[in-house]
Amino acid sequence: MKIDVILGLQWGDEGKGKIVDYLAERYDVVARFQGGPNAGHTLHLGGQKYVLHTIPSGIFRPHITNLIGNGVVLDPVVLRRELEQLDRSGVDYRNRLLLARKAHLILPTHRWLDMASEAHKGQAKIGSTLKGIGPTYMDKTGRNGLRLGDVEQPGFRERYEMLKQKHIELLRLYPPIAFDLEAAEAEWFASLQALRALPFVDGEYYLNDALNNGKRVLAEGAQGAMLDIDFGTYPFVTSSNTVTAGVCTGLGVAPQRIGQVIGISKAYCTRVGSGPFPTELTDTLGDQLRQAGSEFGSTTGRPRRCGWLDVPQLRYTIQLTGATELCMTKLDVLGLMPEIAVATHYRYHGQQTDQLPYDLCQVAVEPTLKKYASWLSNLSGASRFDQLPAAAQAYVEEVEALIGIPIRMVSVGPGREQLLTR
Ligand code: GDP
Ligand code: IMO
Ligand code: MG
Repeated sequence: MKIDVILGLQWGDEGKGKIVDYLAERYDVVARFQGGPNAGHTLHLGGQKYVLHTIPSGIFRPHITNLIGNGVVLDPVVLRRELEQLDRSGVDYRNRLLLARKAHLILPTHRWLDMASEAHKGQAKIGSTLKGIGPTYMDKTGRNGLRLGDVEQPGFRERYEMLKQKHIELLRLYPPIAFDLEAAEAEWFASLQALRALPFVDGEYYLNDALNNGKRVLAEGAQGAMLDIDFGTYPFVTSSNTVTAGVCTGLGVAPQRIGQVIGISKAYCTRVGSGPFPTELTDTLGDQLRQAGSEFGSTTGRPRRCGWLDVPQLRYTIQLTGATELCMTKLDVLGLMPEIAVATHYRYHGQQTDQLPYDLCQVAVEPTLKKYASWLSNLSGASRFDQLPAAAQAYVEEVEALIGIPIRMVSVGPGREQLLTR
């Protein structure tokens, strides 16, 4: 069997959680392959809203086994809180939630290093979620990190102390940050202990065995391809590979195992945090889009920057991820706008281009906008694509022609059932 992939093609928050939950019905296993609690994946089920940060979005389907892969960075405190939320909602996750031993641990000091680093950057800050993501991946690649499986090994406490001491010394180089080490440490160790009730696995063996035994596996991405550490708007990116290549390293599956790659994009664009955003609307239209789409971060509550759909940007991330099809979310939100536009090209140093230039963070590109007819109607009750207003259908068809891959799903509301297939 091959492993199918769902990932974001923009700057995150495309609606991955909703789509993973919807498609999970057809799979046996859902596996998160990168990122950490910087992610916030929202699901609306039976009138209830759930926000998952570390737990894969297949958890609400009782037949699904969920794996937190080795490429994920895991904060035991956040994960434990998520588990408590599931307990309160009566979701039985025991023996259905597996943790890869090779996943790296976010220490309390990693979070404080994140805060100190951002404070030190001042105006040039990344706009990090301050969950400790960057410092944890730095320790991973610097070969200093602690992995979940280390908890089962002798000497864990000593290794923790060594890393913590190093962090405390590093923190002295930065503007001072207020923290309560003792309280945070106590909660961290208690949470880690609680996680030991879940099965720890060698995720790469587990998944390859599952695939060899005919199981259907879906890989769930976090963030979006424009936040990829190599190909995003560096340095305003996250610290992992959010593109399809991240599935191979983040789960231990070989490239030829990759099957369908489903890219998710909103019908427009949003970004939270700093960095270039060619189609950003800084006027009242942007405010309207933010209000209509409730564009406030699922993890931090920060207002999201909003703008028009950006075709050169999407073509770039489709190329990088090998997306075989696209799911367009939030078409219902776009339908509330009095006017609609899409960037078809950019102008850069006076010339037309379809490429994002290397110096995008220094030199702004000017989007060439094409206007589309507005449909100004509520789509959220639609159950078939052909029930949508002609202008909404035309918008989807034109975008499909511009990006060059089929748009097989269109989402018209946050609920599981508000999805139209084509
Ligand atoms: P993720 O990080 O990619 O999983 O996305 P988030 O959960 O951070 O943000 C997407 C937001 O849009 C959530 O509040 C979802 O409930 C909501 N959402 C998803 N699809 C749709 C849709 O088609 N229409 C509307 N109105 N909301 C949606
Ligand atoms: P999901 O999975 C949107 C952004 C942050 C910041 C940059 C770096 O919900 O789509 P980090 O905390 O990784 O150091 O932040 O990346 N960012 C996200 N934006 N959705 C996310 O996740 C994000 N995860 C990180 O806002 O600009
Ligand atoms: Mg999100």
